[in-house]
Amino acid sequence: MSTIRAKILGTGSALPTKVLSNKDFEHMVDTTDEWIVTRTGIRERRIAEPEEATSDYVARACERALEAAGVPASEVEMILCATVTPDMMFPATANLVQDAIGAKNAASFDLSAACSGFLYGMSLGASLIESGRYRYVLVAAGDLLSRITDYEDRSTCVLFGDGAGAVLLGPATPGETAGLLSFSLGSDGSGGKYLQMPGGGSRRPATHESVDERLHFLKMQGSETFKFAVNAMVDSTEKVLGQLGMTNEDIDLLVPHQANIRIIDAASRRFGLRSEQVAVTIHKYGNTSASSIPIALDEAVREGRAKAGDLVVLVGFGGGLTWGSVAIRL
Ligand code: COA
Repeated sequence: MSTIRAKILGTGSALPTKVLSNKDFEHMVDTTDEWIVTRTGIRERRIAEPEEATSDYVARACERALEAAGVPASEVEMILCATVTPDMMFPATANLVQDAIGAKNAASFDLSAACSGFLYGMSLGASLIESGRYRYVLVAAGDLLSRITDYEDRSTCVLFGDGAGAVLLGPATPGETAGLLSFSLGSDGSGGKYLQMPGGGSRRPATHESVDERLHFLKMQGSETFKFAVNAMVDSTEKVLGQLGMTNEDIDLLVPHQANIRIIDAASRRFGLRSEQVAVTIHKYGNTSASSIPIALDEAVREGRAKAGDLVVLVGFGGGLTWGSVAIRL
C-alpha cells in the first residue's frame, strides 16, 4: 500500500445559461411537464449554444477547480477528461483543455466510460498521485449531450443536458485524515446494447445512410437501464464501504449520478439516508452524463453541504455498461 494519499484540493463546474424547460418539450414531442417530473424528477436542463463545444465548459470547470485550490495551471501534470461528446474524434478534448487553460506542463488524455467516466478518472488520478510520480492531477468530465440527443424521440430527449465538472487532486499531507480512501469500478460489455450511440465509429462510420437511420443519436432501452442502475448503485456503494470496514451509517453525503430521481431515491432508501444527505441536481440540470457527479459535488462544497471531515461517497453507472464508486474523506 502506498503511503501517499490523494485528496481533493478544489472543485469546479460550468453550465450553459440557456434553459430548456419541460414546457418547451410540450411543443416539441408528445409529452407533458407532469409526465417528465413524475417519471424522472427533471424540471429543466441547460443547453449549450450552437458555436460552443465540450472543451469550452471543461476548461471553465478546470479553471474554477484550480482557483478554489489556489494552484496555478502551470503546476498541473496530468489532465484526464471523461467525455462521450468530445469536440471531435481527435485531438482529445483534454488536449484542447490543456491549451485553453495554459497547463503547459501537463500531459492530457480523454477517457471513455460514459456516465461512470468521472469515477474512473478519480480512481486513475488518485492512483497516479499514490504512485508518487504525479503531484497535481486535474480530473474533469464534460458532455454536451444535446449534440447526440434525438429531439424526435420523447423517451430519451427529455432526460439529457449539457455541463462540465472538475476536481484538482493532489497529495494529502502525511497524517491528515482527508483523502480518497477507496474506490470500486466495474463493467459488463454484454449490456452495451442498452445504451449506445451506434454511428460515427469504425463499425458504422458517418454516411448518408447512417444519418438517415439516425444512428448518430444516443439510443437507450430505458427500463433495462433502470433495473441495472438501482442494483449497480447499491452494490457499488456497499462494496466501497465494505473495503473500508464501514457501513451506510458512516455516509455523510452521497453524491449519485443524476439519471432519474426514482433511481436516486431507491438507492437512498436502501441506505436509510435523509434527503439532506443526498446531493440532487437532476431537477435543474437533467442527466449531464459523467459531469453530473462533479457538478453536484462542486455545488455541495460551495453551499457548505459537504464539509471538511465528511465521508462522501460518489456513485454512478452508465453505458458500457459501467459502474463505480469512490469514498472520500473531505
Ligand atoms: N412523455 C410521455 N410519455 C412517454 C415519454 C415522455 N417523454 N417517454 C416515454 N413515454 C411513454 C412510453 O412510450 C410508454 O408508453 P406506452 O406504455 O404507451 O408504451 C410509457 O411512457 C412508459 O414508458 P416506460 O419506458 O416504461 O417508462 P418508465 O417509467 O420506465 O420511464 C425512463 C422511462 C426512461 C424515464 C426510465 O426508464 C429511466 O429513467 N430509465 C433509466 C435511464 C437512465 O438511467 N439512463 C441513463 C443511464 S446513464
